[in-house]
Amino acid sequence: MTRNLENGHPMTILVTGANRGLGLELTRQYADAGHRVLACNRRPADAPALAGSVTWKTLDTGEAESIEALATDLAAQPVDVLINNAARRGDTGGLDTLSTDDFLTTLRINTLGPLLMVKAFRPHLERGRRRIVANISSRAGSVAEGLDADGDYAYRCSKAALNIATAKLAFDYRLIFLALHPGWVKTDMGGPQADLPVTESAQGLRAVIDAAAPGNNGSFRSFDGSRIGW
Ligand SMILES: NC(=O)c1ccc[n+]([C@@H]2O[C@H](COP(=O)([O-])OP(=O)(O)OC[C@H]3O[C@@H](n4cnc5c(N)ncnc54)[C@H](OP(=O)(O)O)[C@@H]3O)[C@@H](O)[C@H]2O)c1
Repeated sequence: MTRNLENGHPMTILVTGANRGLGLELTRQYADAGHRVLACNRRPADAPALAGSVTWKTLDTGEAESIEALATDLAAQPVDVLINNAARRGDTGGLDTLSTDDFLTTLRINTLGPLLMVKAFRPHLERGRRRIVANISSRAGSVAEGLDADGDYAYRCSKAALNIATAKLAFDYRLIFLALHPGWVKTDMGGPQADLPVTESAQGLRAVIDAAAPGNNGSFRSFDGSRIGW
């Protein structure tokens, strides 16, 4: 087991979308480092078995009732780090296939979900030692750096909206809010042609999260620690 504890203490990390992809790897790595992980997904019965302190919890980040039920279930639990990781790609066909339902579902899960998580878990975070919210965003949501030749209107708009939500939360509340770009990662979402193994992305994101200090509040960073323009 690779120990990398915060001042020798295990942290409590809540990860959304923990059953596959980047969320699963973050869960695995934090648990392997000796931290307690509240690993959330839509169907905990199907969750993989992991070593270490991993507690699977039911959470659909597209449903406010599901978020509120989890916050109530964990009412006595301080949370050091909330990782808003769950997301969907949405339609990729450009204006030709743009649909109201797909667009709004994508914003509901990728933007409103993280905001409702912060609303519900602010008391838990305020009782934690680190008080960090890591919103897994994407360079695809950067107006300054993100434009590319694809048809991802819903996804890009959802991540751009998550970015301004992160900056606004950082302005309003005394926690540490980060918008993080994980790189182009080999997961179901990133696809097999992606250039970054999920292990490397998660290691980089953990390093950025673990080093976060109040001076980093409201910053948009890549997994390698570099700043990204909004
Ligand atoms: N992969 C990349 O190249 C890349 C690049 C930039 C940013 N990102 C961001 O990185 C994060 C992780 O992406 P990934 O590549 O690991 O994606 P992924 O492999 O597609 O996994 C997505 C995860 O989100 C969960 N999820 C989706 N909708 C949910 C909902 N309503 N409630 C709860 N969980 C939900 C999925 O659960 P189910 O199994 O239940 O669907 C799954 O666990 C996302 O925020 C993504 O936007 C990824």
